[in-house]
Amino acid sequence: MSSVAAVLNLDIEGPRISRHLYGHFAEHLGRCIYGGFYVGEDSDIPNAGGIRMDVVEALRALNIPNLRWPGGCFADEYHWMDGIGPKERRPKMVNTHWGNVEENNHFGTHEFMALCELLGAEPYISGNVGSGTVKEMSDWVEYLTRDGDSPMVRLRKANGREEPWRVTYWGLGNEAWGCGGNMNAEQYTAEARKYGTYARDHGDNRLYRVAAGANSDDYSWTETLMKSLGTLGCAYRPQPYVQALSLHYYTIAGTWQDKGDATVFDTGDHYATMAAAARVEELIARHSTVMDCYDPGRTVGLVLDEWGTWWNVEPGTNPGFLYQQNTLRDALVASLHFDVFHRHAERLVMANIAQTVNVLQAMILTDPESGALVLTPTYHVFEMNKGHQDAASLRVDTPGGLPARDGLATVSMSASRKDGRVLVSLSNLHADEDADVELDLRGGRLDGVTSRILTAGRLQDHNTPQAPDAVAPRPHAQVTPTATGLRVHLPAHSFVTVEGRLA
Ligand code: AHR
Repeated sequence: MSSVAAVLNLDIEGPRISRHLYGHFAEHLGRCIYGGFYVGEDSDIPNAGGIRMDVVEALRALNIPNLRWPGGCFADEYHWMDGIGPKERRPKMVNTHWGNVEENNHFGTHEFMALCELLGAEPYISGNVGSGTVKEMSDWVEYLTRDGDSPMVRLRKANGREEPWRVTYWGLGNEAWGCGGNMNAEQYTAEARKYGTYARDHGDNRLYRVAAGANSDDYSWTETLMKSLGTLGCAYRPQPYVQALSLHYYTIAGTWQDKGDATVFDTGDHYATMAAAARVEELIARHSTVMDCYDPGRTVGLVLDEWGTWWNVEPGTNPGFLYQQNTLRDALVASLHFDVFHRHAERLVMANIAQTVNVLQAMILTDPESGALVLTPTYHVFEMNKGHQDAASLRVDTPGGLPARDGLATVSMSASRKDGRVLVSLSNLHADEDADVELDLRGGRLDGVTSRILTAGRLQDHNTPQAPDAVAPRPHAQVTPTATGLRVHLPAHSFVTVEGRLA
């Protein structure tokens, strides 16, 4: 067993952890929207206007701050006008990216905005740059956010919505370097300037426009955007047509062709996964450094609007539907990401896990036959960590270093304070060794300390309709007071949260 000495200054607040780092993503892909969020009004599954209420209730418990939609790659072939008006008159299309299945457009703008209202989440809409037009995007913004009288306002009202919605987060395309148009950085930058200009602020609605950023470690993409999207010079001034850049990074432990199995893996695969997940810190730090060169005042946000594990699809499922199981290993990938996000909260303003229901690293899996809903281990990490949303980050120092295995630190931690409460998150990524963390609490005391743990007998354990709580949080008794703070015992492969009131 290893022992880790950690220093936590309870009275020195770092940057605020935006709640939007706990954002989500729902694409028209496989069973995420249809069968996941949306079952249609005639379904036997309880629904509100076709939206599954058990899914909504489960997600409300996470305080999900925002939901990105309609893609992903789908966003750049989506024409929003196909998804408004009476459903029986909406044109059908083929979802060429994801399984070549028919898309009937029954879930469109009004349904998405109703979903956001039910969730209490802010919409984050990805506009179509790849195959759309500037006018199409401009009209969509007007349709959603303008008040008074205009062609798009009249159309919205004719479709039953009198008041404009409030929309802040707006994506200018998706993966422009790939499925979003196969552009180079210079081409896309020119598009982003144009699309960003005509995605207008109507009335007092202020858009936060997110330019389609880099894939993984493509730092030159970030540099090209930063150079061109602001006025260069010592007093860098971002232009009003773009407020942030995105970044996509998936945890893939195998190769792109054979990503590995979600539930059948060995210890070596586990460590390869943790190493791939930990790499997100290097990527965020380096993209931030590039941004710092041009924007030292950190006015332009970095938005990691796709992250998570990507495994081979479950045997027997449509390869284009990206349906995968979710084990305790996935939960540790999530907890590790959140520690990184908290450390980089000054530049990283939003992150969206891919994807919320039935696709990639989902929170919720639904059974296509019975309709049964299962909460995944990853769901529980989001729930256990929700106290970090909009909290002030607290730095955790480990003067003696962290236990490591082949260069991978096997213990990860982060902390925050909000409303007189402190939340500490601790992960032990080691497959079979326990760890003790000696938390030296400085600048305050904690009262009423409680703790929860997410673990299971095996890293491969996961939840199913037959065993929905195989991996679920439980109270954790192994937190003991010491002369200087707390000793937190972390069993092998576990995620623990410790919470207390500032005394
Ligand atoms: O999340 C699945 C896909 O991954 C998205 O559509 C795309 O943006 C990314 O390549």
